[in-house]
Amino acid sequence: MTADTPFDKRDGYIWIDGEIVPWKEAKVHVLSHGMHYGSSVFEGERMYNGKIFKCNQHSERLHNSARILDMEIPISPSELDEIKYEICQKNGLTDAYIRPVAWRGSEQMAISAQATKTHLAIAAWKWGTYFDAKKRDKGITLKTAQWRRPPAECAPVDSKAAGLYMIATLSKHKVEREGYDDALFLDYRGYVSESTGANFFAIKDGTLITPTPDNFLNGITRQTILELAEEHNIPVEVRHVMPEELGSFEEIFLTGTAAEVTAVGKIDNYTYTVGPFTRKLREAYETLVRS
Ligand SMILES: Cc1ncc(COP(=O)(O)O)c(C=O)c1O
Repeated sequence: MTADTPFDKRDGYIWIDGEIVPWKEAKVHVLSHGMHYGSSVFEGERMYNGKIFKCNQHSERLHNSARILDMEIPISPSELDEIKYEICQKNGLTDAYIRPVAWRGSEQMAISAQATKTHLAIAAWKWGTYFDAKKRDKGITLKTAQWRRPPAECAPVDSKAAGLYMIATLSKHKVEREGYDDALFLDYRGYVSESTGANFFAIKDGTLITPTPDNFLNGITRQTILELAEEHNIPVEVRHVMPEELGSFEEIFLTGTAAEVTAVGKIDNYTYTVGPFTRKLREAYETLVRS
């Protein structure tokens, strides 16, 4: 098994609907509501040194994401916590990425899905850095996406819902073909919002600036970074960020469970250095997740 082995052809075990099955047998029927109508929510978590960072917060968020989509996760957040540890142990993992996913089943096949059952699976695998580790000291490159994040009135923006990633994949594909690492979304008002899978931070004159999370996921890593900034006496501004400001920022970084703290070296034609604030907060985050 290599890093390129397709995800349905790997070895190991996956928890699905109450049982642990060999990895290759964790299958879903083609007439699942989740696949046709986007009724699916998921989590992304990391285990460091045998401990899942903010384990229960992620389980609670999965429940909340499902509730927003009028779905109900069949087990409690604390039961979810236990299974996440069990599946890591079963796969012999102490450092892992964990992916719980819930979706509506095939009991009914139309827009109305009142009779469908909510299915749940939890997989875990070894996963290194989200972006190429060699970019750590240079920073990744971003290009403004052609799609915009929708308003809270037009999409369930507080849910980690699969359907919200449709524009993320489209945007990321486009900029990758142009040689960039990721796309940066503006929102429907034209404010800077986040990348395709991580939240946005900037440094200007010693102040940490991050957009108000009123139409994108208020990431668990984002909240952790805000706490760490307070501990390190770094002043914080949570506010709307205009794209015209990008040229005046000294440092930029992204945060997310997968991306962790990733420095940004370029956005469109603006360039940034991986400066002292990014390095300090990245180090503080890395220490915290392994503590
Ligand atoms: C679109 C999007 N925004 C932000 C985040 C960061 O969230 P978290 O820090 O909770 O992983 C993620 C990752 O889950 C994401 O997919």
